[in-house]
Amino acid sequence: MVKCGVPNNEISNGLKGRDLLSLLDYTSEEIAYLLDYANNMKQEMLAGNMPPILAGKTLGMIFEKHSTRTRISFEVGMIQLGGHAMFMNARDLQIGRGESVYDTGHVLSEYLDGVMIRANSHEMVKELAEHASVPVINGLTDIFHPCQALADLLTVLEVKGSLAGKKIAYVGDGNNVAHSLIIAAAHMGMHAAVATPEGFEYNSELLEKAKELAAKNGGSVMATTNPVEAVTGADVVYTDVWTSMGQEEEAAARLEAFKDFQINDALVAHAKEDYMFLHCLPAHREEEVATSVIDGPNSYVFQQAGNRLHAQKAVLANVL
Ligand code: CP
Ligand code: NVA
Repeated sequence: MVKCGVPNNEISNGLKGRDLLSLLDYTSEEIAYLLDYANNMKQEMLAGNMPPILAGKTLGMIFEKHSTRTRISFEVGMIQLGGHAMFMNARDLQIGRGESVYDTGHVLSEYLDGVMIRANSHEMVKELAEHASVPVINGLTDIFHPCQALADLLTVLEVKGSLAGKKIAYVGDGNNVAHSLIIAAAHMGMHAAVATPEGFEYNSELLEKAKELAAKNGGSVMATTNPVEAVTGADVVYTDVWTSMGQEEEAAARLEAFKDFQINDALVAHAKEDYMFLHCLPAHREEEVATSVIDGPNSYVFQQAGNRLHAQKAVLANVL
C-alpha cells in the first residue's frame, strides 16, 4: 500500500504534460502524491499562501453538458494559481457544427496550456487528447469522472485520517462517478463494495481491473445487488443520481428500478456509527438519498464539493 508521502520530484516530473482521462492511467503512487499535494495546497491556502505557480498559463474549458462545481472550481483554481481559465460552450465552438476533433486538438494546442473537457463521449475525449499536444483533463464523460474521485478521497482522508483498509460502499447506478470512485479506492487499498440493481451494474471490465488493482494494494472490490450487504460495516456511504445527464428520457423507468436503493436511515443503520455520507452532487433529495441523511450530521457533501478546488489545483499544478 502506498502512503500519501512527502513531495517527490520523480513523481512530479513524470506528471508534467500528462493527460488525466482515467485514474487507470495513473499509478497508485501518483494518486497518493496528488492527494498529498492537494492536502498541502489546501493548508497553504488556508494559511493565506497562494503561490502563482501557473502565472501566464491558460486553461481552456470545453463543456458539452451542464456544470456548477466543475466549471467554477477549475476556473477559481486557475485564478488562485496565478493563471487564467476560459469557458467554452461546445455548441459555440466550430466543433459544435462539425469541425473535426483532430483539427480542434491541434488548433487549441496553439493557444492553450491545457484543456479541461466535459463531454458526452469518453472516446471523443481520448481522440482529442491524442491530437492535442497540451494536457487534456477529463471533467466528466459517460464513463469516468476522475477529478471527482480525487476530491472524494481527499475528503475521506481529511475526515478519517487514512484510506487503506477503510470500507467504502457505493449504492446506486453503476455510472461514471462510480467507475472513478471505485478505481481510486482500489488504488489506495480501500475495501470497496458496489450495490446496483440488475441492469445498471458497474462496467464488468472495469470491475475486474479495479479488483486487480485493489488486491495489489491490500484492498478489495466486490459487487452485489444487495444494498444492505454493501453498506454493512462501511466507513463511507456514497451515492449519485439515478438518472445522469443525457439519460432524461429514462428517468421514470429508473425511478422504478432504483426504488430499493435509496440511502436512508434504515440503510445507513448497517454502516459504522461514525460513517460518512458522500454524494458528488447535484442531488435529488428523497430519490437517491433521504433528506435526513444528506442534511444530517454524517454528511460531508459540501466539504467534498469544496475539495474539488484543491484536488484539481493539485492536478493543474502538476500536469500543466
Ligand atoms: N459533481 C460535479 O461534477 O458537479 P457539476 O456537474 O456541477 O460540475
Ligand atoms: N452521474 C452524474 C454526475 C454529475 C456530476 C452525471 O453524469 O450526470
